[in-house]
Order: sequence, then structure tokens, then C-alpha cells
Amino acid sequence: MIKIAPSILSADFANLGDEIKKIDECGADMVHVDVMDGVFVPNITIGAGVVGGLRKYTKLEFDVHLMIENPDKHIEDFVKAGSDIITVHVESTKHLHRTIQNVKKRGVKCGVSLNPATSLKDIEWVLQDVDMVLLMTVNPGFGGQAYIKNMTDKVRMLRNILDDRGLDVDIEVDGGVSEDNIKMLSKAGANVFVSGSTIFKSNDIQKTISDLRKLAEGER
Ligand code: DX5
Ligand code: ZN
Repeated sequence: MIKIAPSILSADFANLGDEIKKIDECGADMVHVDVMDGVFVPNITIGAGVVGGLRKYTKLEFDVHLMIENPDKHIEDFVKAGSDIITVHVESTKHLHRTIQNVKKRGVKCGVSLNPATSLKDIEWVLQDVDMVLLMTVNPGFGGQAYIKNMTDKVRMLRNILDDRGLDVDIEVDGGVSEDNIKMLSKAGANVFVSGSTIFKSNDIQKTISDLRKLAEGER
């Protein structure tokens, strides 16, 4: 199933509640929340307190992307704040399997994420434990960066691995996703599409979400 997940990193931070209501009314499937700590990535964004404050503005799933060192320290807080899916980076934890169990035992979905330079091999032994794999298609840290072209091959390789193993796992792509590449990414096997600047910088958010969806669904 195709899902469009606007990233609020490109929203107006002074009016996040209204921005979330807007994307809900404009047809988004999930709210993508980028959590950055200034250590794992160069930028600092929002914490569990803000996520909790935003929870009342929508019933859409909160897709929380943790770009932080030692994610285990904060998972409980993000679950309590109302996260529906928590995604952790392979590169941010020494014991990935344990971290995944730490998310799943709290009754929320778990995603695992790879930076562009990280091999699919790193998740080979946890694929059966996760609901989603988030493939970064830019280096994490900022919105508005250009899509890294050879990531399409990585998406295709992952979809083949999942199909071979009979696993029903979502593939989310994050970074530089736009009308120019969403068709190709959908064809390669991605089904969850994060989009920050393309959606929030557009003059007609409803049309942009609907265009992205149509382009992605055209490949199914
Ligand atoms: C980058 C974040 C992305 C970012 C995507 O580290 O994980 O979610 O907001 O923004 P765009 O769609 O502008 O590349
Ligand atoms: Zn993200």
C-alpha cells in the first residue's frame, strides 16, 4: 500500500499544530517526524515533549525517525508521547536487535534505517523483526537536499531480498523525493514516501500530495 508521509522538518516550526492539521486535511497518510540530536547528525530538531504536544492535532500515524545516538535512552519517552512507528538507525546503536525489541515490546511498530553508505547486509538478520526499512536517499541532517541517484538500486535490491524471503515489510524512502523520482522509486519497490520540501514549499499542498500518490500508484 502506497503511503505519503510529509516530513514536518520543512513545516513552519512556529505553527506546527496548524501545519499538521493542514497535511491531514490535504490527504497525507502519516506525519513524518525527524528527531535530530546534533551528534548523530549535525542538526538539532525536536524532542518527545514536542511530539506529545502535537499528538492532539491529528489521528494520523506519527512516523518518528530517530537520528540520535543511543536511541534506547529515549524510546520510552517517544512511545509515551504518542508515536506509532519508531525508526532507529543501524549506525546509532551497538546492539540493533536489542534496540528493535525495546521498541516492539512497547506495542508500537518498529522501523530500521540505513544511511546511504551503509550496506543492506547490516540488516540481514533483523529483517524478520521489523515492520519497515527506511532507506535514506540523502545523508541525514537536513531537508531540501538532492536525491542520491544510485539509491534506486538499493531499493530494488532490498525489495528483491524481502520478496525472496516472503517478508511483508514496508520500504520507506526519505530524502529528495519529488514528482521527478517517485515513480521510479515506486517501481523499484518503495511504498512509503517521505517528502518534506516538495510538499511544504508547494503552493497547493493537496495537489502535490495527490500528484505524488498518483505517480507512485501508477507503478502498482
Ligand atoms: C533528513 C530527514 C528527511 C527530510 C526530508 O535527514 O530525514 O525526512 O526532512 O526532506 P526533503 O524531502 O526536503 O529531502
Ligand atoms: Zn526523516
